[in-house]
Amino acid sequence: MFKSLFGKSQSTATPDFSFLGADMHSHLLPGLDDGLQTMDQTMYFMGRLEKMGYRKFICTPHILSDMHPNTPDTILPKLDEVREALAERGSNLQVEAAAEYMIDLEFEKLIDSGAKLLTFGDKNYILIEMSYVAPSPNFEKIIFNLQMKDIKPVFAHPERYSYFHSQFDKYERLIELGCLLQVNILSLSGFYGKEVKKAGELLFKKNMVSFLGTDMHHDRHLALLTDMAGKRDFLNTVSSAELLNKTLL
Ligand SMILES: [Fe+2]
Repeated sequence: MFKSLFGKSQSTATPDFSFLGADMHSHLLPGLDDGLQTMDQTMYFMGRLEKMGYRKFICTPHILSDMHPNTPDTILPKLDEVREALAERGSNLQVEAAAEYMIDLEFEKLIDSGAKLLTFGDKNYILIEMSYVAPSPNFEKIIFNLQMKDIKPVFAHPERYSYFHSQFDKYERLIELGCLLQVNILSLSGFYGKEVKKAGELLFKKNMVSFLGTDMHHDRHLALLTDMAGKRDFLNTVSSAELLNKTLL
């Protein structure tokens, strides 16, 4: 299945992520957060990613209190604009929107309020993240509360939380609590550092990863993703995983 992951030649081929087909973590909607800023950029990035084998993007702008105060009212109209721009270009790409929710007190209040949450997929997944500095004190409570609402939490880039690197049981605990884990593709390239790469690889080795995401924000991410063409160890790491990306198509 993965033999043709990078096309005919490991060194010169265009990277082929068609084995994923759908990306479920990106900041491709323009002007909503620290990701892409203009519609032209969005069209360019989506075009490049399509050439790498992606057919669907579930875009996930940050929702982070005062810094990125997004709501369905800011995100969904932007989704419509992107769909219109793609239609004007005759594109068949599928685009949806959810969000990357920071686990903080605001999010806890939002869940309790019964407000509409931006989920994705038939299984009602929600993408959640924590600070890179320290775990959110309320993360177990949030995970529980989401599941009480029949929402399935997907933990974004757990390999990037360095405070878990020396406590692998924390990752096992997330799964025990009912979370699915999403690793960033670029974590496996070493982009975020050796320890992050090691943690990501270990999660794969222990078959704990359910999704791979681009977490695409900017040009550098795009260039590095393209460079994954030469990464034989990436191929080896992900080849035996039972990833769910394709179930989102
Ligand atoms: Fe993200």
